[in-house]
Amino acid sequence: MRSLIDIATLTVAEIDELIATADDIIANPEKYAHKCAGKKLATLFFEPSTRTRLSFEAAMYELGGNVLGFSEANSSSAAKGESVADTAKTVSCYADIIAMRHPKEGAPLVASMNASIPVINAGDGGHNHPTQTLADLLTIHREKGRFDNLTVGLCGDLKFGRTVHSLITALRRYKGIKFVFISPNELKMPDYVKASLEKEGFPYIETTDLEEVMPELDILYMTRVQQERFFNEEEYLRLKDSYILTPEKLSNAKPDLSILHPLPRVNEISVAIDKDPRACYFKQVLYGKYMRMALILKLLEVE
Ligand code: NCD
Repeated sequence: MRSLIDIATLTVAEIDELIATADDIIANPEKYAHKCAGKKLATLFFEPSTRTRLSFEAAMYELGGNVLGFSEANSSSAAKGESVADTAKTVSCYADIIAMRHPKEGAPLVASMNASIPVINAGDGGHNHPTQTLADLLTIHREKGRFDNLTVGLCGDLKFGRTVHSLITALRRYKGIKFVFISPNELKMPDYVKASLEKEGFPYIETTDLEEVMPELDILYMTRVQQERFFNEEEYLRLKDSYILTPEKLSNAKPDLSILHPLPRVNEISVAIDKDPRACYFKQVLYGKYMRMALILKLLEVE
């Protein structure tokens, strides 16, 4: 029985296999409509979510399975003080697979050590978000046809943004990738991430100036400033609009730039960009559902 807690535990070959399955689901959805008949997915969300929870649920329904769960900590026994370990043991009696989001880093790992069914990390604090990375990877693959030789700009809250941490873990395994970290000084990429890149001699640059680096980028991954991880409201208000992508700021961008964002968007991307053919963030939402379908099939070992 296998869980997905950290994207690093999927090999490059397994990522390729998930992408091939997702491509096949997109081409032949009817083939998959009953693959999970009789199976149940439990969505245990201790933190707010629109896309991740609903796409897991839609994914399971499109595979012919069923869904149960909760969407806030207050409506579960966590509000009475139950541990994540006990919740995981309990839900193992009701479901075949768990998708868990939790504000505490490591909570899904603890769940996976106590559950007798696979656990998928649907976001743990400011740490990791492997299934968002699967959505990001399918988007990049369908837009660019490759994962190598890309200059990838990551912009916004690189300190607390779990999606960028997982995406870096996935992309650093390919050749010719260069990262450009664009953030205010207060929200820089954590030292542990940079130190591990440096150890491998992996190229990255850090800047506060988005427009200066724009012409180099093949991918621009925008992120929201993670209000819920701030200790100080004033600091959040000061930093929240550090970057607002507007059509003017794209004037010197590559014509085949791909703009991604895990969403929700607050102010980081002007709605005027939504019509630009380089905007990929709503396609990315759809691709997330297909990758979650592929992942559920893999973890449930469905042929
Ligand atoms: C992201 C998350 O939860 O980390 N959202 C998502 O799952 N698509 C990004 C965010 O909340 O800013």
